[in-house]
Amino acid sequence: MISIAALLPLLLFVTYPQTTQSFTSGGLSKQRNKTIIKMGGWSETWKDILNGGPKRWKVDDVEAKQKALTHITDATSTSSDTPLRILCPLAGDDQFVHYAWSQGHDVTAIDIVPDALKAMRFQFGENNKEDWSSTSSNNGGGVVWKHKSGRATLYEGDMLMKRPELQSSFDVVYDKDSFGALSLEMRQPYCQRLSEFTKSNGIVYVEVKNKESGREFGPPYHVEKNDLMEETSFGGAFDYVNALGEVYPLNMGGMRQMGHILRRGLRK
Ligand SMILES: C[S@@+](CC[C@H](N)C(=O)[O-])C[C@H]1O[C@@H](n2cnc3c(N)ncnc32)[C@H](O)[C@@H]1O
Repeated sequence: MISIAALLPLLLFVTYPQTTQSFTSGGLSKQRNKTIIKMGGWSETWKDILNGGPKRWKVDDVEAKQKALTHITDATSTSSDTPLRILCPLAGDDQFVHYAWSQGHDVTAIDIVPDALKAMRFQFGENNKEDWSSTSSNNGGGVVWKHKSGRATLYEGDMLMKRPELQSSFDVVYDKDSFGALSLEMRQPYCQRLSEFTKSNGIVYVEVKNKESGREFGPPYHVEKNDLMEETSFGGAFDYVNALGEVYPLNMGGMRQMGHILRRGLRK
């Protein structure tokens, strides 16, 4: 008899697409415009979520977002009213972006699926057509949406694109279930971009899944400190600061949501 807990990772696997890439030429260090993202799975997944299908990784609970922001302000040793520049890579429509903005921070989100960011714009108010303007990014990096407050920017495009305008821009990276959704070969280029975009001494707040079973499968992948700190992942440019333990309970049996804080080293 197979238990539901044993089947759960498999069920998630079939409903949670793999973030993969294929290269038309060259290796991982090549400019991203030489690559083709297989994003069809994510686009279909977002259509299903927004049509009322299973929520997969989504945590629509503002208390969880408040906790995350408190961990972040604690780690940056700033008073809670000091505005931070926060990057949210592979953000989906995570409520954290709107919540951090509502607390006075400057937020930038990146996601490849337009419907996900459209859903996020609605969180900023019903007037979202008047409140947002869009331009095409000049290097083929997708569409950039700016909120009239000047404190929210949404990049509708590929996280792995080189974006010189974001170099050394962020005090904080908020990564919830983003690293853990990447296929293993995408971890290196993803962490490379984050190391470019984060200021020296900037911090990464990362939430990952710990799984009781099915650890060899993903996404979501089972991620521990050692996985984050591989030299080819965050270890190349970031130091490990601390483990936050389980940051909030999940209503998915057999999985725990674990938090970690990393800090970017000084640029040489
Ligand atoms: C597991 S979801 C996590 C979403 C969000 N961080 C959260 O926890 O609510 C992964 C997200 O990555 C986005 N994504 C996948 N590949 C991407 C890429 N190459 N560039 C930007 N976004 C991508 C998907 O559209 C999806 O919204």
